[in-house]
Amino acid sequence: MPQKVYIETVGCQMNVLDSELVIGALRKHGYSLTDSPNEADVLLFNTCSVREHAEEKTFSALGRVRNVKRANPDAVIGVLGCMAQKDQELIRKRAPYVDMIVGTGQLGAVPQLVEKVRATREPQLAVSLGRTDAGRDEVEASFVSYDPARDPSMRPTPFQAYVRIQIGCDKFCTYCVVPSTRGPEQSRPPVHIWNEVRQLVDQGCKEVTLIGQTVNSYIHESGDKRTRLSDLIAGMHDSPGLERIKFVTNYPKDMTDDLLHAVRELPKVVKYLHVPVQSGCDEVLKRMKRNYTASYYMDMLARSRELVPGVSVSSDFIVGFCGETEESFQKSMDLVREAKFKNSFIFKYSERSGTKAAERFADDIPEDVKKRRNNDLLAVQNENSRADHRAQVGKVVEVLVEGPSRLGSKTSRDREGAGILQLTGRSMADHIVVFDGTERLIGHTVRVAINDASPFTLYGNVLTDEVVGADLSREPHVYTSPVRPDRFSLPLV
Ligand code: 5AD
Ligand code: SF4
Repeated sequence: MPQKVYIETVGCQMNVLDSELVIGALRKHGYSLTDSPNEADVLLFNTCSVREHAEEKTFSALGRVRNVKRANPDAVIGVLGCMAQKDQELIRKRAPYVDMIVGTGQLGAVPQLVEKVRATREPQLAVSLGRTDAGRDEVEASFVSYDPARDPSMRPTPFQAYVRIQIGCDKFCTYCVVPSTRGPEQSRPPVHIWNEVRQLVDQGCKEVTLIGQTVNSYIHESGDKRTRLSDLIAGMHDSPGLERIKFVTNYPKDMTDDLLHAVRELPKVVKYLHVPVQSGCDEVLKRMKRNYTASYYMDMLARSRELVPGVSVSSDFIVGFCGETEESFQKSMDLVREAKFKNSFIFKYSERSGTKAAERFADDIPEDVKKRRNNDLLAVQNENSRADHRAQVGKVVEVLVEGPSRLGSKTSRDREGAGILQLTGRSMADHIVVFDGTERLIGHTVRVAINDASPFTLYGNVLTDEVVGADLSREPHVYTSPVRPDRFSLPLV
């Protein structure tokens, strides 16, 4: 009987990719994937520690699988990733039936650890001991043996893939657990990355998203050869079949001109930068140890927009950080008004044990104040998002069609008989675009004339006679515009 594995993933793109790699490795050992925990022989939870909410999500998921373990005592339950690295004791206390705890640097060993649990029935723990040089070697080795084991069925779509170019982080923002859960910053050798991109493109992948905690700090040195992110991108840009290159997430101080030139000059590079500012107040930024001021950030933004005309920029904010006065918060409001981001991800500060902020500063902003500031900042951002999206109306944009829209609509359902679906994809400036079309457009790049906009979505008509790179061997046809759903919301992750 083939063994079945069930996996739940919480957190960032790095975790989505890690889950893909773990499933890829398990498939090589004969496992198949199931979406039912009750059917599974191995149940894995890939976890996030960045905010308390994410941790609680994992603990409640673990609570739910307790019954699975009761019904099937041979089932192997594993906690992977950031919480495994950070909270081994707590996991053992709150979920003593967990069989294995595997940190971010040890995920390549999951198949062996499962076998060990089976053979010994003893819990297995594999985590990094600390930010040591030994840790570096260990992780470097895992780049070589681990990343090629990928699993297309775990990707966002078959034609989009994440590619890790860097692991860890050395910035040590005081609020953040990442430097301790993911270890020191290391840039992966460019040749490994180029090979991986080539393999992905051979499998039909059209868009790669290069990921790293501070992806634009990427630098790889070998002898006297220095590869920056701009060189890395240039080195993969001409791969035939590759249509789009994205990179996330950027650190404001490392937004160098060579990178901005690459974004402008290289046609496959998506004209979108995610550059978290976190706060508009210099004192708060200082306590966060972000190493820049609000005016530095605004200058960086102006330079980016000057060097890459039309570039979309998005940001992250933390509200209610330790000692954030009403006046400090108003500076974030001012910054968000002025910066005109396409969108922002706004988070309430969540104290994380082991961070410098938890050690040094009191988490002194009451929850209701954090909540109010979150809503206020979001309201201003939404106004900007609305204006940003409205400015696209009347344009024709290139969209890589990802699949049926999650928004759905009555109109589309009514037209299912005619094979017309409401489809969604992203433009080259990272706008979400919704339009009607047929299934055969999925995975292709089409041109869409934008005729309507909401704060988070553009709506339009696909011009199928202008499909890029597809043999549609049918009459050119212009689909009618979808009717906008009345109400919807997109989750901010
Ligand atoms: N509390 C709230 N938000 C956080 N982030 C990181 N650490 C914390 C924390 N302790 C946010 C930052 C970061 C995003 C990924 O998560 O805004 O950019
Ligand atoms: Fe965390 Fe700061 Fe590193 Fe981002 S740059 S992962 S916020 S420490």
